[in-house]
Amino acid sequence: MRMVDIIAKKRDGHALTTQEIEFFVQGYTKGTIPDYQASAFLMAIYFQNMNEQERADLTMAMVNSGETIDLSAIAGIKVDKHSTGGVGDTTTLVLAPLVAALDIPVAKMSGRGLGHTGGTLDKFETIPGFKIEMSTKDFINQVNQHKVAVIGQSGDLAPADKKLYALRDVTATVNSIPLIASSIMSKKIAAGADAIVLDVKTGAGAFMKTDAQAEELAHAMVKIGNNVGRRTMAIISDMSQPLGFAIGNALEVKEAIETLKGQGPADLHELVLTLGSQMVVLAGKTDSLAEARHQLEAVMKNGQAIAKFKQLISDQGGDSAVIDHPERLPEAQYKIELPAKTSGFISSMIADEIGIAAMQLGAGRATKDDKVDFAVGIVLHKKVGDAIKVGQSLLTIHSNRADIEAIKQKIYNSITIADTAKPQQLIHTVITH
Ligand code: URA
Ligand code: CA
Repeated sequence: MRMVDIIAKKRDGHALTTQEIEFFVQGYTKGTIPDYQASAFLMAIYFQNMNEQERADLTMAMVNSGETIDLSAIAGIKVDKHSTGGVGDTTTLVLAPLVAALDIPVAKMSGRGLGHTGGTLDKFETIPGFKIEMSTKDFINQVNQHKVAVIGQSGDLAPADKKLYALRDVTATVNSIPLIASSIMSKKIAAGADAIVLDVKTGAGAFMKTDAQAEELAHAMVKIGNNVGRRTMAIISDMSQPLGFAIGNALEVKEAIETLKGQGPADLHELVLTLGSQMVVLAGKTDSLAEARHQLEAVMKNGQAIAKFKQLISDQGGDSAVIDHPERLPEAQYKIELPAKTSGFISSMIADEIGIAAMQLGAGRATKDDKVDFAVGIVLHKKVGDAIKVGQSLLTIHSNRADIEAIKQKIYNSITIADTAKPQQLIHTVITH
């Protein structure tokens, strides 16, 4: 087989065989296929697309390019959740203990990454003492014993994806549905997922800016999952405004604690119940989404969900007293209110602009060597559709610097107050095939 022939075949719009796709992925991972051929090939895919079979083959070739995590020592169906990322997205912190409280195993591998706040790992690490490093053996033991564990992503999962993603970044080929879908799915499958729930975000703060794009990506991933034997479902959820009230690491941990107690913000509460119900169904506990939701609501009400979070924290060396005393979490030096300049209704809060403001306060990383300040961030008091009076606080800025005029201005510019406004719809679509 010659790479030049495979490039020509895709350039001319033909479908590739499983062997041709494997040849490319293996050769590129090993370094026998150079960047210039891989670049041309990615651009051919960008223009010519891939059919369902090719997408499944590309995904599995990337899974098999490196280490895969074997979770077969954990009894039951291991369901993973993936979010395409947004601002103030606290769902993993809530979902992991919530679903585990129903005795469903949650073996969660999470990352850090760049962004408005830290990743899920950073958020867990704001809990004093919480360790995210452990051997695969200890990870599996903890899930078997207490149903939930959280570990840092191994660097050796889907190395082909890592290399290809870096190349796509500099060859203008990131934005391709078959390439994005196979990239995301390969990492979930390599991490040992038997079934996958996808939260595809749409709107200003999301990777996919429109519902049409988000739906296309969601369908592509659901098809890949189901074609490679992993039951997969997706929802499209709103990311035009931040999720919940809190944006920032320790602030989001507090929000997660409140949500597990059934006292979280309405949108976050609804999102975790929607995603959680799908996880419960995929885990085979019931085939009714309504029954799944009912069970999740019950463990929020009877205290089992928050007890499971407490257990997870102490299992991983953390200070579980934060559950009852969230003031033990890192706290910022300054709390600065942002008063509304007019009365009316909030008609927009542009998620990515508010996210960047949180990052500028120090809550996230602009480059991978940046240090995250766990304490800082933003707590909204109002969401789109809410009424506000002049002088009333829109939000509180938690900062370790007093001089934040530019950030305040940026946040003001991202919020619009109008004479009328409707609440933003949270769940746009549910996709099961
Ligand atoms: N996230 C991924 O993991 N891969 C992509 O290709 C795009 C977003
Ligand atoms: Ca939040």
